[in-house]
Amino acid sequence: MSKQRAKLVVGNWKMHGRLAENATLLQAVAQGAGELPADVRVGVCVPCPYLGQTQSLLEGSKVVWGVQDVSAFTHGAYTGEVAAQMAVDFAATLAIVGHSERRAYHRESSELVAVKTQRALEVGLTPIVCVGETLEEREAGSTEQVVGAQLDEVLAKLSAEDAARIVVAYEPVWAIGTGKSATSDEAQAVHAFLRSRLAAKGAAVADVPVLYGGSVKPENAEELFREPDIDGGLIGGASLKDQDFLAICRAAAATSVAG
Ligand code: 13P
Repeated sequence: MSKQRAKLVVGNWKMHGRLAENATLLQAVAQGAGELPADVRVGVCVPCPYLGQTQSLLEGSKVVWGVQDVSAFTHGAYTGEVAAQMAVDFAATLAIVGHSERRAYHRESSELVAVKTQRALEVGLTPIVCVGETLEEREAGSTEQVVGAQLDEVLAKLSAEDAARIVVAYEPVWAIGTGKSATSDEAQAVHAFLRSRLAAKGAAVADVPVLYGGSVKPENAEELFREPDIDGGLIGGASLKDQDFLAICRAAAATSVAG
């Protein structure tokens, strides 16, 4: 049943970075990514103030870039918000939506995440829709119910055609920034479940990339990426270190279609 899909590795810098260190990191990533096979795609999602810098350093490289959130509004009196179109002005192509840190600290509901997904799609950005359960929810045996509801709420607002343009990221909250990754078996089980929900939306939707996020590091990346329904990773802490991030990209290459 499973099918080989090209791998995608995306760095989520979160609220990290300064001009000088970004330059070193972006240049190293651009150079290292240039040596990867064509079927491994690489991206970085940076804080908005650094979009211009990111564009100027990555343009012409293999690495694409994007933002970590978009506003649910297209424009207007929404102080502090950043519209999806503004990211496009800097040639961004990716937008993370529904990260668990936004769900937790900014009280974002799945309904709001669905609207943000639509805003991203409308302007041609690829939304990376994050889903994931807390430790409490996992221990209560409700992982599938939680991530299924988070995904379904987004899918319900999209046509099958639009749904085929998203990326999904499974990020168990208990694995984020904790150093404790899900095992490859645990992650694969949830990915297979998410894939079945995607497939229910349409044949083309079944093939959207489903990334794993949560303490991915050079040491565990290859084992995770070898799973049939893990199409790559959304990388937090390790994306801030060029050598670690590139090692994770190489692990994706080793497990990709050509690898
Ligand atoms: P870490 O890789 O630091 O655990 O973060 C994962 C994450 O939240 C990526 O979006």
